[in-house]
Amino acid sequence: MRQAGRYLPEYREIRKKHTFLEMCKTPEVAAEVTIQPVRRYEIDAAIIFADILLPLEPMGIGLEFAKGEGPVIHNPVRTMADVEKLKPIEASMQIDYLMNAIKIVLRELDGRVPLIGFTGAPFTLASYIIEGGGSRNYEHAKAMMFAQPQAWHKLMEHLTAVIINYLNAQIDAGVQAVQIFDSWVGALGPSDYREFVLPHQKNVIARIKKTVPIIHFAHGASHLLEMVAEAGGDVIGLDWRCDLDSAWKRVGYDHAVQGNLDPVALFGSKEFIRRRVEETLKQAGGRNGHIMNLGHGILQQTPLDHAEEFINATHGLSKRV
Ligand code: CP3
Repeated sequence: MRQAGRYLPEYREIRKKHTFLEMCKTPEVAAEVTIQPVRRYEIDAAIIFADILLPLEPMGIGLEFAKGEGPVIHNPVRTMADVEKLKPIEASMQIDYLMNAIKIVLRELDGRVPLIGFTGAPFTLASYIIEGGGSRNYEHAKAMMFAQPQAWHKLMEHLTAVIINYLNAQIDAGVQAVQIFDSWVGALGPSDYREFVLPHQKNVIARIKKTVPIIHFAHGASHLLEMVAEAGGDVIGLDWRCDLDSAWKRVGYDHAVQGNLDPVALFGSKEFIRRRVEETLKQAGGRNGHIMNLGHGILQQTPLDHAEEFINATHGLSKRV
């Protein structure tokens, strides 16, 4: 979960010279920060430096990363007329900088570790587009769902096509696995997930090229796990709000799982981190198909040697296949 980023001094050094979007749009820079964590740590995969919001610009939505505020969307989508104005995308051409970054990374990694591509899920992208940025209660997104269901479903269908195009372009560029982040879907109750999200999420996963494994991660969604698994994915990502053993049972052993240490556990002592790794591995029960990871993105103030302890403890205590 987030390998590059502000917890790394070598990232902050490069970030001083560019805005976040400039970094994404300059393939050599995006490639460099993708590889930084692979150089520093014995990690088993790299994730391409990009963002789930990059497809917004070609859709005709103005995006800015404001200092200290996260993403800001200046023309939020709130009505059917707004939805109808959205454009389809051709990621291989309009987001070619990402595909070029992928090719550079693959060349430089030279098979040392696999490279993961990623996208946001329809609900998470819809929530940004409708709210205009991050949100606490998702009142605009949910209001569209409840008061304008036709506009909602049309937006979700549009995003489904955008996401499939965005991911398939990354697969064509050579990524060896893909992850779908549904970061904010935990705001929904089970019946709303079933009615307003599940059919679209199923469609996305069904229509992605089946040449690489798909990791499906819904954050804050322990109450939705069975439906997340029903939507699909070879691997189901788990956050830390559930026990890995019972969560794996719920999603079914026919799925692999990824997770699920609390990112804040890395602020505990090294002994504590080691113990948490041990407990998580114990819950995985020695079954094949557990990818050790944090349960969400690494935090900016995480001590570097504690991140390293997490990785080394995992390698030391687990059996690798
Ligand atoms: O992990 C990696 O190294 C790959 C890079 C990656 C980024 N964004 C780079 C990034 C990944 C996998 C993402 C996904 C992403 N982006 C998600 C889903 C994952 C999750 O956390 O649930 C979401 C919701 C976003 C949207 C987004 N991008 C937000 C909310 C922010 C602001 C965060 C903040 O704390 O300000 C970003 C910016 C962003 N994306 C940064 C990075 C490294 C920080 C940029 C900076 O240096 O200022």
